[in-house]
Amino acid sequence: MFTQLPAHADLKIAADRMKSTALPALLADAERARNLVFTTDDLRVDLSRHFLDAAIIDHLFALAEQANLNTKLSELFAGERVNLSEDRPVMHMAQRSADRLASAEYKRLADFATACRTDGTILDVINIGIGGSDLGPAMVSAALAALKHGDDTPTGPRLHYVSNVDPSHLHDVLIGCDPAHSLVITTSKTFTTAETMRNAALAKTWLGDHANGRMVGVTANPAEARDWGLSDDRIFDFDQGVGGRYSVWSAVGLPVMIDIGPDAFTQFLRGAAAMDTHFRTAPLSQNIPVILGLLRVWNRNYLGLPTLGIMPYDQRLSLLPAWAQQLEMESNGKSVTRHGDPVDYPTAPVIWGEAGTGCQHSFFQALHQGTDIVPLDILLPLRSHRLGLDGAWSASHKVLVANALAQAEALAMGFANNAEPHRHFAGGRPSSLISWDQSTAFAIGRLVALYEHITTVSGFVWDVNSFDQWGVELGKVMAKRFEAVLADGIIPDDMSATAADLLSQVMGDDD
Ligand code: F6P
Repeated sequence: MFTQLPAHADLKIAADRMKSTALPALLADAERARNLVFTTDDLRVDLSRHFLDAAIIDHLFALAEQANLNTKLSELFAGERVNLSEDRPVMHMAQRSADRLASAEYKRLADFATACRTDGTILDVINIGIGGSDLGPAMVSAALAALKHGDDTPTGPRLHYVSNVDPSHLHDVLIGCDPAHSLVITTSKTFTTAETMRNAALAKTWLGDHANGRMVGVTANPAEARDWGLSDDRIFDFDQGVGGRYSVWSAVGLPVMIDIGPDAFTQFLRGAAAMDTHFRTAPLSQNIPVILGLLRVWNRNYLGLPTLGIMPYDQRLSLLPAWAQQLEMESNGKSVTRHGDPVDYPTAPVIWGEAGTGCQHSFFQALHQGTDIVPLDILLPLRSHRLGLDGAWSASHKVLVANALAQAEALAMGFANNAEPHRHFAGGRPSSLISWDQSTAFAIGRLVALYEHITTVSGFVWDVNSFDQWGVELGKVMAKRFEAVLADGIIPDDMSATAADLLSQVMGDDD
């Protein structure tokens, strides 16, 4: 257990030392600050505004070694069954390998995407999926909207993502679409997820006579898709070892491929593959995912910071916090180790966030002056991507850059104003400033893969299984039970009084 490792004691002592250290004093040491900037190509990760120094980084590396991080990573890379509770290997990195890019499966996806983009009769594509079958593709479509709406005329069909079983979600999309000119993609690893299958059935009815030619399925369970009524030529499958929240690289990325085109999608995979190579080969002292994974442990377990705010200063990355939330909280929100023993330390931080600069005019008040310290990831492309900019537009991007940096500095440095306590900023609020040149498909693939690896590293140090998600099951079972109660109209005796009261309010209400 990681709290029994020798480095744990060293890190606790270091955390006590940091409690009486001022962040501005740390930042004043230019050599320390520059040593805390890590780069690979144009990706730059500035950790100078954290309660870190060389000694703490060394202790964190020692912790990683004592937690057998290297061994666990080697097992992951070798395709061993590191997902112990489901007895599966973890295959998402294989989805962006050169072998996969050269495969017949990838060519079939790309050909289908090209046909959808060019045949002229498909005006709208509706992806029905939830969790990883929605958040990843929806996030990447939005992130790379520049490739669709940039300075050129938009090309290809419009993309819509529907996830909620709340019928208003599907309804509000379908009212803008024509069944004769729409393609519905049902994306579900299991092809059994209740919300998705219900929405898929509604969409099939809506398509009517067009359903045969206008529905496809993306799944790791083709047998279930066949039973549902899709023929083999309408099914795109992927490996069971690809977890839902790690699946955007697989056939689950089909809607993104239709949205931005296969060439750009391939660049997205190449960006991820570049991060994989860095993760596999960079020495520990320069390995960005390893360092950021260890930083997550440092902030959570030693500085006692229970949340992490992810603030993209890139409007098109506005869905990244929700995607990263599933990634970290479904992967590492665990109370037992990989072998089932209870943990005696906190695991996944609560992840949340929103795109800047809007958030500066709302909850950033609490980040600057509230009683809780929230470490931030501030994400920033240094130049805007494909806006067909004249000077005034590119000047706006510089204002965006100035704002991102201003927040990082203001949170860290504060501003002493003892005469006016309402205007006093204590500072000492840490952030990572993660920047890159432009939000190209390559850069976004690299960033998304980076977040995956951070979660893997921290999960391995916490010794939890980052690749299962048993915690979502109980709610599903209960929902089924309540659905049956609503259908039968009979409230069982063992139901809590308030649950029974609520259910009886909606019984018989079919409109
Ligand atoms: O309920 C959680 C979950 O299983 C996620 O892990 C997954 O991403 C999502 O539901 C959707 O699952 P599926 O792709 O099988 O429909």
